[in-house]
Amino acid sequence: MAQAKMIFPPDFLWGTATAAHQVEGNNTNNDWWVWEQEDGRILHGHKSGLACDWWQNAEADLDRAAEMGNNAHRLSLEWSRIEPEPSVFDSSALDRYRQILQAMHDRGIEPMVTLHHFSNPLWLVEKEDFNSGVAVDYFQRYAAKVADVLGDLVPKWVTINEPMVYVFMRYLKKAFPAPKQTGWAAAMQATRNLLRCHAAAYHAIKEKQPEALVGVAKNMAVFQPRPGGNRLDNWWAGRISWLFNDMWHESLQHGRLRWPLGQGRIKHLADSFDFTGINYYTRFYVKFPPRGGLLDNEWGPDAIVSDGNYGEVYPDGIFQMIKRVLRYDKPIYITENGIPDQADGIRPSFLITHLREIWRAISFCFPVMGYYHWSLVDNFEWERGWTQRFGLIEMDPETQERHLRQSGRLYREICRSGSVTSDMAQRYAPDLMDAIFPGQSPPAVA
Ligand code: FCB
Repeated sequence: MAQAKMIFPPDFLWGTATAAHQVEGNNTNNDWWVWEQEDGRILHGHKSGLACDWWQNAEADLDRAAEMGNNAHRLSLEWSRIEPEPSVFDSSALDRYRQILQAMHDRGIEPMVTLHHFSNPLWLVEKEDFNSGVAVDYFQRYAAKVADVLGDLVPKWVTINEPMVYVFMRYLKKAFPAPKQTGWAAAMQATRNLLRCHAAAYHAIKEKQPEALVGVAKNMAVFQPRPGGNRLDNWWAGRISWLFNDMWHESLQHGRLRWPLGQGRIKHLADSFDFTGINYYTRFYVKFPPRGGLLDNEWGPDAIVSDGNYGEVYPDGIFQMIKRVLRYDKPIYITENGIPDQADGIRPSFLITHLREIWRAISFCFPVMGYYHWSLVDNFEWERGWTQRFGLIEMDPETQERHLRQSGRLYREICRSGSVTSDMAQRYAPDLMDAIFPGQSPPAVA
């Protein structure tokens, strides 16, 4: 029987994503490193340690990415390496980043580079932190410096990774290295300053590299009342969804603070993004009044739930989030999407069903330009330590041994061919055949 194919555009970017602290190893000069040494901060007392040893040997995993047919990769810079003390820039660290970025180009892998992915130089958090406007000046200078030194190798930049997750985890949940001042007022103050940081970095980069694309990787999630929820639950889901999904980009678009940040304008913020980055993982049910926390981690009876109760598999949500950012009229990149699944029992079908939603969006001419799977290789998953394995490549942090998961084989076929086919589904996720490629299953052998 002829294969059915979902074909992606020839210039589509097929990548994976990582973050400095999660893969580099020995980032001893940042706030995460210190936090990890304290009792009770990280699940099972895990530490990032050598992580995936990228500081010494990123090239080996870049070889694997190239072999997987990837033509793009999203990584982040570790600010504490580049500026180990205020106003002191380390040229050897910048040289190492140049090497890594050059290694990507040599392998046909286009870099997308994030400036801030959850970690901070110790001196920043000890001094001013994001509750003070001083952080904005420092961030601007750091952005200008790296654009100057590395910009010729970086066509795409992300200023800040998941600002709302960052603020929530740091100021409200205190599961990330927490500053002295926490709570709602501090969270809103930090959000305003992160918006200022973004605007400052956006213009610092564009001044040096007018042709670069600069944006934000924004975590977006579906918030819904539980089935059978009432009008209040519905109203509450809408409020949380606005706060988490829309408030940031709405502020960026209009240059004005939006509810509940307060009122007023931020200078140079309006229209300060060239693309919308979506990090999509899951959906949450919410209920009003919230019980013991904003989110409700109980899933429906038929839900497919990933390791450690991380989240429910809900591919339709990625389509909904793409539709949600169409209002900004910018190119869209899926800057993260993945699942913690050590045994790799779910990831192959997760890949196929999520890519199907993206393909569906593209076939409606929604401008989705690339997909960066989180992640290339198992890495240090923040407060959950090494308990959550997101890699297409499995890695043992003790031995640094790696092996390609089945899902990595599938992603290789997808990236190399620029398509998802019924034949792939048949081999990697046969249970999906009827739902995704009806009538395409090979006839049963009598
Ligand atoms: C995202 C983070 C990324 C990783 C994945 C699983 O929220 O940006 O660093 O932790 O989740």
